[in-house]
Amino acid sequence: MTGFAVEMRGISKAFDTVTVLSEVDFAVRHGEVHALAGENGAGKSTLMKILQGIYELDSGTIEVDGRPVRLGSPQAARAAGIGMVFQEFSLVPTLTVAQNIFLGSEPRGRTGLIDDRAAERRSAEVFADMGVSVDPGRTVASLSTAYWQLTEIAKALAQDARVLIMDEPTASLAKHEADALFELIDRLKVRGIAVIYISHRMEEVYRIADRITVLRDGRWVLTESLAEITPPQIVEAIVGRRLEAQLTYTDRGDAGETLLEATGLRAGGRVRDVSFRLRAGEILGLAGLMGSGRTELARCLFGIDRLDAGEVRLRGTRVDLSSPGAAIAAGLALIPEDRREQGLVLDHSVRDNLLLPLLGRLRRGPVLSDAAGRRLSQELLERFSVKVADPARPVRLLSGGNQQKVVIAKWLGTDPDVLIMDEPTAGVDIGTKSEILDMIRGLADAGKGVLVISSELPELLAVSDRVLVLRDGTVHRELHRRDIPSEEALQLAVQGVS
Ligand SMILES: Nc1ncnc2c1ncn2[C@@H]1O[C@H](COP(=O)(O)OP(=O)(O)OP(=O)(O)O)[C@@H](O)[C@H]1O
Ligand SMILES: [Mg+2]
Repeated sequence: MTGFAVEMRGISKAFDTVTVLSEVDFAVRHGEVHALAGENGAGKSTLMKILQGIYELDSGTIEVDGRPVRLGSPQAARAAGIGMVFQEFSLVPTLTVAQNIFLGSEPRGRTGLIDDRAAERRSAEVFADMGVSVDPGRTVASLSTAYWQLTEIAKALAQDARVLIMDEPTASLAKHEADALFELIDRLKVRGIAVIYISHRMEEVYRIADRITVLRDGRWVLTESLAEITPPQIVEAIVGRRLEAQLTYTDRGDAGETLLEATGLRAGGRVRDVSFRLRAGEILGLAGLMGSGRTELARCLFGIDRLDAGEVRLRGTRVDLSSPGAAIAAGLALIPEDRREQGLVLDHSVRDNLLLPLLGRLRRGPVLSDAAGRRLSQELLERFSVKVADPARPVRLLSGGNQQKVVIAKWLGTDPDVLIMDEPTAGVDIGTKSEILDMIRGLADAGKGVLVISSELPELLAVSDRVLVLRDGTVHRELHRRDIPSEEALQLAVQGVS
């Protein structure tokens, strides 16, 4: 087939008086994987929500398969063959995979009842076409995130989607799951399906995409074949200036005395026996496969999950970890992995979210006046260059990466002694990522202890002074940064190969 699967021309969109997209052109060919890149808040998700019929455009035209369409509703977009793999999944966990795939378009038997057997049979066919094996009769709740995503993709394909939109699809996937997704995308391409792929990860873009379009501040900057553009050129297009190489480690010298000491920690089934020390001024990286207990360790260190055994001492004094409030009072802070669920109250204002963890501290100090709260939140927003039009509006309206910055700013406002960060740069753009890594170093330079969990090994290697490799809920290896020669070496350690 010739021509474009989708062609968007001169798209503009404003919310209230704030222009978010101006005159954007974006066209995707059949069987093409087209990456959409840009800083946090550049307008990527908004452009895609217009294509899905969620937002109405102010001006511009959209053609699908060369025919002008009006995508006034999600139904209209689906009927036009546009499918979406949601970042926050839209599945019903208590239903089976097959029931989810046919939700709203259930095959019915002669009696008019939903025919589960037919739905499962047809789901199995879709999965077979995708070249993956998923049992359509299982409930979605019993499957891991990677399978949720496959179910989302199957759902779109079952509705005859010819264009699939994926907004940061690998954000919650382990490496082998991401690889499986890429292979699936390769197969979809062969079938002529167009994929629009939003990602902040450069390696992924080169692995999977044919062309890339970059947006900056709601404007089109470039569209280029990936064979003809280098990573630094893309970065420059994204941030509008050259960036120094950011992922290099500089030896920060020896850290101070022991700040935090954890001994024999056991919690739930996932944390079996963990002991470690964190020094003042030290950045300790936590590596490990999914399921190795990293996130669970962070949760019990912050008093979210109850410890079954073991103790944690801060400067020699035993820390009460019976609740997050107690942990905060003791001087700990956690930036959680799942920012939308645990990090923010989405319907509250940006300002209230920033000031929330400070409330626990107020008992110790003078009450925060309105004016002081305003000033403090303004200061935090500036320090972390959060792009926000009005801090009194709900945090839900911020772009994904800016929400992540609010989570970080909010916890740093509590001025903790020990900061635990679970995937701190997930979903943030490349410029912000280097800001966050610099900020982590700055905190350590100021004498704080920082525990960083990250699945991105280059990032972990750039920032950690020491790395703990967790496996099956225990510390499998403890490596000084100087003794890790390469990313491959760390990868092998994580996989348990010595
Ligand atoms: N419903 C809305 N009301 C008001 N402003 C909005 C709304 N949706 C998005 N915005 C604003 O539009 C801008 C673009 O947001 P968008 O979500 O498209 O960015 P993005 O490129 O997807 O960023 P990220 O990489 O962080 O996901 C942001 O400044 C955001 O605050
Ligand atoms: Mg987005």
